[in-house]
Amino acid sequence: MDNLKVPRHIAIIMDGNGRWAKKFGLNRIYGHKNGVKSVREAVEFCGEKGVEFLTLYAFSTENWNRPSEEVNALMELLVDSIIKETPDLNKNNVRLNAIGNLHTFPENVCTKLNQAIVSTSNNTGLTLTLALAYGSRLEIVEAVKQIARKAAEKEIEPESINEKFFESYLATSGIPDPELIIRTSGEQRLSNFLLWQAAYSEFYFPTVLWPDFRKKNFEEALKEYQKRERRFGKTSEQLKQ
Ligand code: IPE
Ligand code: IPE
Ligand code: MG
Repeated sequence: MDNLKVPRHIAIIMDGNGRWAKKFGLNRIYGHKNGVKSVREAVEFCGEKGVEFLTLYAFSTENWNRPSEEVNALMELLVDSIIKETPDLNKNNVRLNAIGNLHTFPENVCTKLNQAIVSTSNNTGLTLTLALAYGSRLEIVEAVKQIARKAAEKEIEPESINEKFFESYLATSGIPDPELIIRTSGEQRLSNFLLWQAAYSEFYFPTVLWPDFRKKNFEEALKEYQKRERRFGKTSEQLKQ
């Protein structure tokens, strides 16, 4: 493994929990519960490899449309996991962060999450961002709204808006774009995740279901990433110059 070519930012669409549970004839909720171990391993793995940012898609704006029992169980699991995992996050120097429409979450979830964010805020290792009630189109629309307001109030000139300026209004402001996006379970789509930020990301779609995603699977993903040639519009020859 080439340690020099480790991405600064890896984002994961943790998919396949429901199918994992179904394989065992269990309720979908068991799939979500078993996905927590994979989250733990992914965080540890990134810490070991020196990855600076790990972003996990945990709940999309569209996931509100799932049956209410599943949504409620997911909220409960989220609170439980945050409470249980925070001491380890601190021990491993991980800083917790969240993006998405957190205000749409139940109050107890927001409170626990904010407590965990505050409690880990001085850590200097991996930044772990949870995408919760996150949808990229809404994120972009919100950025446009804020910028339009400033323009209407004559605080900014429309001509001065450039990519860098626009990015500073996104929820991921301050976080570099992900070099690598992994989606487990064999699905090959973004499902409204980091649409702007993924402009030049490498994609990796293992068929393994999220609750089965272990360090060795993550290692495979990194190896595959390191084989890719990131050309950013240039020719292969130019890169070798
Ligand atoms: C991903 O697993 C977790 C969430 C979306 C919260 P799924 O629940 O989507 O699992 P599948 O895709 O139905 O197998
Ligand atoms: C995307 O997974 C969201 C998360 C993994 C949290 P879904 O399983 O909800 O995505 P679609 O609807 O199948 O595209
Ligand atoms: Mg799914």
